[in-house]
Amino acid sequence: MEFSNSLINWYLQNKRDLPWRNTDNPYLIWLSEIMLQQTRVAQGLPYFLTFTATFPTVFDLANAKEEQVLKLWQGLGYYSRARNLHATAKYIAFELDGKFPSNYKELLKLKGVGEYTAAAIASFSYNEPVAVLDGNVFRVLSRYFNLDSDISLPKTKTEFQQLAQEVLNKNNPALFNQAIMEFGALQCVPKNPNCTSCDLNTSCAALQYKKVTELPVKTKKTKVTNRYLNYLVLKDSDSNFIVQKREGKGIWENLYEFPVLETQSLLSEKEVINQIKGMQFYNKKPSEILILHNDVILHKLSHQHLNIRFFALHFDSKLPDSKPLTEIVKLPFPIVIHNFMASNYFYSY
Ligand code: ADE
Repeated sequence: MEFSNSLINWYLQNKRDLPWRNTDNPYLIWLSEIMLQQTRVAQGLPYFLTFTATFPTVFDLANAKEEQVLKLWQGLGYYSRARNLHATAKYIAFELDGKFPSNYKELLKLKGVGEYTAAAIASFSYNEPVAVLDGNVFRVLSRYFNLDSDISLPKTKTEFQQLAQEVLNKNNPALFNQAIMEFGALQCVPKNPNCTSCDLNTSCAALQYKKVTELPVKTKKTKVTNRYLNYLVLKDSDSNFIVQKREGKGIWENLYEFPVLETQSLLSEKEVINQIKGMQFYNKKPSEILILHNDVILHKLSHQHLNIRFFALHFDSKLPDSKPLTEIVKLPFPIVIHNFMASNYFYSY
């Protein structure tokens, strides 16, 4: 009880005023929780405001085109979240008549809703006593109770889920869940937490045993692969461009990009240009090929480091399906391509 009461007291004095905390509407809470997965509040907040202004209800989201949903999601990353969000909105609007599932077990059946999100919605919207377990909660529990089990292991997740459930304040699960997550986000932070100023420092076991910096224990590091993407910016005699939708599984499904020449290693500019010289596009050859910028752009995703270059390919005739820039900017692009299109390198081309 001491843990739970101290956390709640701390929360009431230190919480941020965030829009999804002033509602029990499951649609708004679901939206915020999907957006905040793998995303900081500062980054997610403007997206939440735009989404709720554009799609005030689950019906508005369900009736939107996927392209519009992805465009509004542009820059938030992990785009499968947006595609699942849209599919789930349609399911709730059209199959469930707009009525959100009203408990943890039913929420768990929704596409894109895992244990964490189901617990968050069930507790924040319906006050169901189910504990949330996310990265913040892992950190807070491992330190407060000085637990050094490896959090990459599934059995540790079960252990921590049970502990979170035990310490959950059953009279006010919504408040407790918000409190423990906020405490992890603001006070018990991953690096250099200020334990001297912490309200829980007299009862924190890791602090007592000088283990704070070592916890939580996570042995499995994410495996990262490097990829080398050379984007070919085909511009025709009308100053129109070729873009295509990325199909299939993998990164950026259903987002747009320029035609891409992927290589297995980092080649020199010259080597790439030589490869392009050997290619044909719609049975045509470009009249000019040039690199659009000096340095390789490194774009880091969670499991892939993308090494990106943009090459300009000029054509003296029209290309089929080419589009003017005014149309292209309305399409959803990976943020790295969007940023490039907004840069001087692109505009002076
Ligand atoms: N991160 C995930 N869910 C959150 C919430 N409800 N409030 C603040 N940060 C969060």
